[in-house]
Amino acid sequence: SHTVLSLIKPSGSLTLGNLLGALLPMGRQQDSARCFYGVADLHALTVPHDPGRLRALTTETATLLLAAGLDRSTLFVQSHVPAHSELAYLLESTAHVGELNRMIQFKEKGHGRPATRASLFTYPTLMAADILLYRPEQVPVGDDQRQHVELTRDLALRFNNAYGAVFAVPEIVTPPVAARVMDLADPTAKMGKSSAEGPGVIRLLDRPDVVRRAVARAVTDSDTGPDAVRPDREAKPGVTNLLEVLVACGGDPAGLTTYGALKAAVTDAVVATLEPLQKRYRDLAADPAHVHDVYADGAATARQVTAPVLAAARAAIGLT
Ligand code: TYM
Repeated sequence: SHTVLSLIKPSGSLTLGNLLGALLPMGRQQDSARCFYGVADLHALTVPHDPGRLRALTTETATLLLAAGLDRSTLFVQSHVPAHSELAYLLESTAHVGELNRMIQFKEKGHGRPATRASLFTYPTLMAADILLYRPEQVPVGDDQRQHVELTRDLALRFNNAYGAVFAVPEIVTPPVAARVMDLADPTAKMGKSSAEGPGVIRLLDRPDVVRRAVARAVTDSDTGPDAVRPDREAKPGVTNLLEVLVACGGDPAGLTTYGALKAAVTDAVVATLEPLQKRYRDLAADPAHVHDVYADGAATARQVTAPVLAAARAAIGLT
């Protein structure tokens, strides 16, 4: 069986985009693959942060991964496995500043400001270390991580060519629908967890009335034709997004002719998807010792699995 790996950054409360683009597809891999999933707390240090909020979000995210059904995986927190930071340095010594400079995320979040954290620049080398340490065949992520996974592949190949075959070259897997869930209030922008309380973001722990309001206010268009409810990413981004969310939540778009009917169907499908997750979250949050144990076991396994890969990389690159 093959190995898969994916992490989630605790930089805000998880959104419907994280669930549909990543968590649900990650969960489906558990039947056929050995899965390593976790919370990328080190990556949350790349932008201004509050330590107390980071602690709370790390616990919340860790609990949400379990609540979303990732209970047949090795689950861990990135910083509990020091090999990630250690391999990241070797990959900083493999990557070029030119290619890191081209990363969209660095350009968008750094805005060229001198006070940008240096770790935002080296972010992709840490992410490459996260992945390459586990020699996964596949990395299930949303579409926004494509550039990072491509750089990871380039670094794996460059390292292997220079020093010997240490790393597997992973493939990205993105879901057929909802690989890029858009903000309901601005369907030209990605639904992001770190955006401030926006009306177009649905969080996994939002109550049904909050979901209903967000969907009711979702931007559509002024098309009133008989076939107004149809996907067309260019011309109808809002409607297309709602249709993708509906399908990814197990709803059926057949027979929907008005935006009112579409929104009612989306609300029902999203609420039905979130309800069991929120129930499991409440149960898990009432038993923090259990969540702690799961992640302690997972980190122990991750340290064991990654040790030989780090050792091979160290030896190959010339460290004694
Ligand atoms: P992050 O924390 O931003 O997002 C976690 C996962 O959710 C996906 N995602 C989305 N999918 C669809 N629509 C959206 N609007 C949406 N927003 C987010 C992301 O693609 C991702 O799969 N750099 C990564 C975390 C990371 C990682 C890794 C991932 C660190 N190390 C190693 C894979 C492998 C990130 O910030 O994802």
